[in-house]
Amino acid sequence: MEVLVIGGSGQIGRELCHLLEEAGISFMAPDREEFDLENHKNVSRQIKKWHPDIVINTAGYRDAGHATNEPSRCFSINRDAVSNLARACALQNSALIQISSWRVFDGKKKEAYSEKDTPNPESVLGNAFWQGEQQIHQHCPKHIILRLSWIISEKGHNRVTRLLKSFEEEKLAGTCPNHKGCPTTAIDVARVLLGITQQISCGIDVWGTYHYNASETIDEYSLAEIVLAEASQYRDIQIETLPVDEKEDQLVINASLDGTKLKHTFGIKPRPWRSALAQLVRNYYQKDEQEEAV
Ligand SMILES: NC(=O)c1ccc[n+]([C@@H]2O[C@H](COP(=O)([O-])OP(=O)(O)OC[C@H]3O[C@@H](n4cnc5c(N)ncnc54)[C@H](OP(=O)(O)O)[C@@H]3O)[C@@H](O)[C@H]2O)c1
Repeated sequence: MEVLVIGGSGQIGRELCHLLEEAGISFMAPDREEFDLENHKNVSRQIKKWHPDIVINTAGYRDAGHATNEPSRCFSINRDAVSNLARACALQNSALIQISSWRVFDGKKKEAYSEKDTPNPESVLGNAFWQGEQQIHQHCPKHIILRLSWIISEKGHNRVTRLLKSFEEEKLAGTCPNHKGCPTTAIDVARVLLGITQQISCGIDVWGTYHYNASETIDEYSLAEIVLAEASQYRDIQIETLPVDEKEDQLVINASLDGTKLKHTFGIKPRPWRSALAQLVRNYYQKDEQEEAV
């Protein structure tokens, strides 16, 4: 089996490459210079040349705030490039595993979203993800779309590293008790992608859309309190109360997803995130100390 990973330098892609290597699965992970998703001709040419059994696309436009100011760029990556990739995969009979997001939903539902819920994206980013998904449905029958909630990692830009940096700089960003989601480590997502990949290679024929996030929903404000408590074990942080983002908090947004279908189909159970978060914060500060020692 030959796997092509797109976005191998990203939070999820990096962890996925480690796991594929550990599992002894042959893969390639070209960087953006060699494999720019927006270079449609080159993407089609390379997929034809490499002829991978499975393409895992972890690359994508992901900044919801910036997407509002540059919608064409967001659509170019998350819809048009994905459409081209889906066609290229179909031509070579390669399976496509594509990462998508909870943002295809409007976030107004009280419970976790299941695959049966109808998407109703309200943001540019959510719309681009949803239209990208539709392109895959249309052009590449052998596909898995994996929608995710909040991704966290010790490296890269995410809710937790943003908070940790803001504690250091004493420039606290407000968080919202009304925004809910499931913090899911990039390593955990990589584990899920590996499980799906292995089962596809065994001939399982269950194409479609799946949801995954770690177990236990939390609101953004409570998550910030937990991160602060963890960080206080490693640094002397003089913060008594965390600010609430009053402007953003007017809106209730639920980013949590129901992973039952994935569990029943692939036998992949959600993992809890709390102990992983503690490890993540530890690694974040240990990495700093190692860098200082060099
Ligand atoms: N983070 C979240 O909370 C979250 C939640 C749900 C879904 N997602 C989605 O999950 C996916 C992966 O997230 P992540 O956090 O791992 O992202 P990330 O850390 O920002 O990594 C993105 C990766 O995509 C690559 N990339 C970007 N544009 C590209 C292009 N035109 N051609 C080829 N490669 C390109 C980047 O390459 P460079 O290193 O060259 O920039 C990087 O390797 C994204 O689609 C994201 O929207 C994220």
